[in-house]
Amino acid sequence: MSKQIRKIGVMTGGGDCPGLNPVIRAVVRTAVLKYGLEVVGFRHGYHGLYHNNTVPLTLDAVSGILPIGGTILQSSNKDNLFAYPFPENGQTVYRDVSDVGVENIEKNGIDAMVIIGGDGTLTSARDFARKGVPVVGVPKTIDNDLASTDYTFGFDTAVSVASEALDRLHTTACSHDRIMVLEVMGRYAGWIALAAGIAGGADAILIPELPYDINKVADVLLERKKRGKNFSVVVVAEGAKSTDGKMHVSKVIADSPDPIRLGGIGTKIAEELEALVGLEARATILGHIQRGGTPSSHDRILSTRYGAAAVELLMSGTFGHMVTLKGDNMCSAPLEEVIGKNKGVDPDCELVRTAKGIGICFGDE
Ligand code: F6P
Repeated sequence: MSKQIRKIGVMTGGGDCPGLNPVIRAVVRTAVLKYGLEVVGFRHGYHGLYHNNTVPLTLDAVSGILPIGGTILQSSNKDNLFAYPFPENGQTVYRDVSDVGVENIEKNGIDAMVIIGGDGTLTSARDFARKGVPVVGVPKTIDNDLASTDYTFGFDTAVSVASEALDRLHTTACSHDRIMVLEVMGRYAGWIALAAGIAGGADAILIPELPYDINKVADVLLERKKRGKNFSVVVVAEGAKSTDGKMHVSKVIADSPDPIRLGGIGTKIAEELEALVGLEARATILGHIQRGGTPSSHDRILSTRYGAAAVELLMSGTFGHMVTLKGDNMCSAPLEEVIGKNKGVDPDCELVRTAKGIGICFGDE
């Protein structure tokens, strides 16, 4: 029988994401109103856990945050306490300081933790669970690339923003006889590009899971030109790569759990298509716009369900798990099974087949 839970800790790690505040709100409201627990937040993700930077999370503290983007707890996509960087003799050495995190959890009288994050943050959550900390994870990322759950929160909002961007780019494409290329985020997965491309009526969608041949994309755009369609709209995932190419790395952030930052492929594709199709082309890199701002109502509901389910899981004594969505049900999966598995788009899934069936080009055939 595990120890009775009276006080829980909450933290948000990794990049910000629409829906973080609704999760925090649901955790606090469920914990306080349903179970009479106390809740404390660690600020700036694992950085706050290391430095014991806490804030009481009362009902008042979470009042009014449902529609607000970002996270009231702030976040960090660095600060891995299992390999924490220290400067030493002009170099950086990495040490395991996770015991400090455990001490701070105990010092605050916290009986269990809700850790909200993507693969990097949840990898450390799993490692804390291995050290015996009662932990529940909540799957956050606009990329929708976490295994064991149908959808992560934040994805729906990112897709809505990207779809709206495609609608807006369509007007310039039509008015100026241009090819408009939209580069979206998603890291190594093409979920945002695929969903936004279908919702926004793209003529071509390029995703990492289906390496493209630019000549095949150009052929489809030339075919449209022949039919009198002197414009086209292309959406490309930041992680897309050609059949003989590599992903475009824009930056390396040395002390981040995943140091690679992708970006820039949209510009290359616009240049190549302009030359091959003979229409002017422009690239738009949507960037962090798709991650910021108010969450969609879908994400507010999903985040609320995730937050509430996380507390229920802790109260049932199920630790070391992540809350998941399976069909229409809230379930859970062991963090051990979730971590390190990138959930990419299945190139033969129904959504890809449907898109191909209505004539959207993926540059692969
Ligand atoms: O994982 C979310 C995400 O927005 C990715 O889609 C993107 O590749 C990355 O984070 C950007 O990270 P940063 O905010 O560090 O530039």
